[in-house]
Amino acid sequence: MNEEQRKSTSINILAERDKKEKAKNRDFEHVYQPPSLREARKRGKAEVQYNNDFQINERYRNMGRGRTFMIKTYGCQMNAHDTEVMAGILSALGYEPTSDVNAADVILINTCAIRENAENKVFSEIGNLKHLKRERPEVLLGVCGCMSQEESVVNKILKSFQNVDMIFGTHNIHRLPEILEEAYLSKAMVVEVWSKEGDVIENLPKVREGNIKAWVNIMYGCDKFCTYCIVPFTRGKERSRKPEDIIQEVRELAREGYQEVTLLGQNVNSYGKDIKGLNYGLGDLLADISKIDIPRVRFTTSHPWDFTDRMIEVIAEGGNIVPHIHLPVQSGNNAVLKIMGRKYTRESYLDLVSRIKAQIPDVVLTTDIIVGYPNESEDQFRETLTLYDEVGFEHAYTYIYSQRDGTPAAKMKDNVPQDVKKDRLQRLNRKVAAYSGEAMKPYEGEVVSVLCEGTSKKDDEVLAGYTEKNKLVNFRAPRSAIGKIVDVRIDEAHQFSLNGTYLGEHSRAVVSQ
Ligand code: SAH
Ligand code: SF4
Ligand code: F3S
Repeated sequence: MNEEQRKSTSINILAERDKKEKAKNRDFEHVYQPPSLREARKRGKAEVQYNNDFQINERYRNMGRGRTFMIKTYGCQMNAHDTEVMAGILSALGYEPTSDVNAADVILINTCAIRENAENKVFSEIGNLKHLKRERPEVLLGVCGCMSQEESVVNKILKSFQNVDMIFGTHNIHRLPEILEEAYLSKAMVVEVWSKEGDVIENLPKVREGNIKAWVNIMYGCDKFCTYCIVPFTRGKERSRKPEDIIQEVRELAREGYQEVTLLGQNVNSYGKDIKGLNYGLGDLLADISKIDIPRVRFTTSHPWDFTDRMIEVIAEGGNIVPHIHLPVQSGNNAVLKIMGRKYTRESYLDLVSRIKAQIPDVVLTTDIIVGYPNESEDQFRETLTLYDEVGFEHAYTYIYSQRDGTPAAKMKDNVPQDVKKDRLQRLNRKVAAYSGEAMKPYEGEVVSVLCEGTSKKDDEVLAGYTEKNKLVNFRAPRSAIGKIVDVRIDEAHQFSLNGTYLGEHSRAVVSQ
């Protein structure tokens, strides 16, 4: 046993002892099921079970009568959609939504574990809510989402945030009624986090945010285990929903008048691979969904590794699948890609990009990039910059590498100082802004079709929406334009948005951009 292993074993023993000590000191006759990242890493062979009979027990039906709830959501679209499910369950229990935290009877914080700063925001938010519990002890405060899946987070909450009443994870959202009941009855913090995924549950209630755009899960979990990433631990193994259930959901959304759906998964390109005997992938699903009468279909996120020609073919056919592909590259250097465990090279990524561009000439490509990976050299970073030039991404989400305990990268030694990482991020961001600005310019004078989503964040008098290619457009128009696809002539291009003049509801004669 080397020094490092010895240290980590003794820390584990201490943590175990600490946990037992805490368990003795608290009233644990109620639920105490903490998570384990080590368990979460394992991938069982058992086939996924599908549950189409989910029902909320009748005895909980009045639990929320006369009470209100509020959910604060951090993180990705997956979390945003989980919030819609929790809102659905709470509404089915009789709770009413409120946006006033001081009035809410149940407050849930749906957390993200992807980077340290995401976690810090959540801890300060929980801290900020301490006064609420003092003033209104009957309020229930719950922490859920990806952070709940980490034992270090659960331990920190147990130790420092006694104002939290319940912690539950990403795999047992459907048990919210039972967890709430426990929390109402128990004096102790209710901790119910499953380390392993359960069944795919189909008919959970949902209250969607808005009636214009909808998220549709096509699969859960991730088996890619990129060495920096916590998601395979917090979201469990890849589990695809059945094609017929997804198609049914999209049809229903089309009937209800939704204008856009986004198909969601951590790596949607793996769709279908986990269902035995199913010879049906994302390309096939996109082809089937393109037959549904819904104006826009997006999908996210695609791992470059298993992006198939069939997918390119279906997107190239046009129709309602928008020509915007978000294709996270993470780095432009082969050695870094290798230690990240991304399983593609700079060359194979560029080859995929050329195939996509050849078949979908008007495609917009965007990406995610991590700078300052452990031991990333200046030359390696420069290869990320040159790759950016070669592809000509129209936008990118950029991040400084953040160490996540439990992931393989957390054990790597890192010789890159933080100020070097910050400098690289700034240099990259300047490039991102320049390319975004360049991509906006040609729109001046053009007519684009915009799905109008509501008022602009900055000005209540201005409406805003996105083009098919995901460009933000601001314009003045009657409120009746909200929820519709409208034509806007672009007058002015900014770096990350466009300003234009409203021309009226979209007429199909205008070629959409
Ligand atoms: N499933 C998606 C990514 C989800 S996380 C995919 O594979 O494309 C979104 C982005 O966060 C990632 O693409 C990556 O760029 C970034 N990210 C993930 N883990 C990170 C970490 N530990 N530090 C910094 N950025 C990270
Ligand atoms: Fe994380 Fe990689 Fe899975 Fe994306 S594909 S969620 S980056 S492990
Ligand atoms: Fe964050 Fe979990 Fe999404 S870690 S990015 S909320 S899957």
